[in-house]
Amino acid sequence: MNTAIILAAGQGKRMKASLNKQYLILKDKPVLAHTLGAFERSPLIHEIILVVHEEEQELCRKNILEIYPYKKVKKVVKGGKERQESAYLGLQAMEEETEIVLIHDGARPFVTEQMIQQCIEEAKIYGAVSAGVPVKETVKMMGENRFVCYTPKREDVWITQTPQAFQRDVIRKAHDFAIDQKILGTDDAMLVEHMGIKVKMVEGDYGNIKITTPEDLMVAEAMLDCKREKLSR
Ligand code: CTP
Ligand code: MG
Repeated sequence: MNTAIILAAGQGKRMKASLNKQYLILKDKPVLAHTLGAFERSPLIHEIILVVHEEEQELCRKNILEIYPYKKVKKVVKGGKERQESAYLGLQAMEEETEIVLIHDGARPFVTEQMIQQCIEEAKIYGAVSAGVPVKETVKMMGENRFVCYTPKREDVWITQTPQAFQRDVIRKAHDFAIDQKILGTDDAMLVEHMGIKVKMVEGDYGNIKITTPEDLMVAEAMLDCKREKLSR
């Protein structure tokens, strides 16, 4: 069986909204409901573990779980202070029969069933994969006092997205190793890299944005409008 861990326990500070970004309405439903819907619909996902902020358990129940009764959301667990801790706590709740586990940001509502499928298929082969896209612009690495150190070749630079998918033991060991070595990563693939295991990039989608700042919400609304227009044509 395959498990999806959806991380929704952050504070959304960069959004500067009075409500955590995951519960903000995007067209017809909260951001998190868009995200959960894709995993609920995927026939390859058997169990969803939702990681929610300690103080938002009630909010999540009222605004999401009671309104959209997902069959696959088997567990709602409390998150931690850092994203890595939230992912770790989600992994602790996973069933032993899990073969592939996908870790996904609750704030990425445009994940598709096709992306989920591709990540699972490739994780079975490679052990650890991440969705991502090549950068469109040139990236500069910065040194001290905002002077440029060097410019990596554009073809070599990709933006990391989620889902990231892993064989169960690979990601468990990577998280244990990170705790032991006091490594704090901004994504889960990074922890696997620290163990010397190669992570394969799966081509994601430029539309698979993370809702982080207020402009992202505007872009997200426009993308949904566009999709609806195409459907009604
Ligand atoms: N996340 C989490 N637990 C944390 C921190 C983040 O589950 N302690 C989740 C967020 O809810 C989000 C995803 O990880 O879906 C990606 O993190 P990010 O976009 O940084 O969200 P926030 O940490 O909530 O936002 P900010 O950094 O602006 O405060
Ligand atoms: Mg954050």
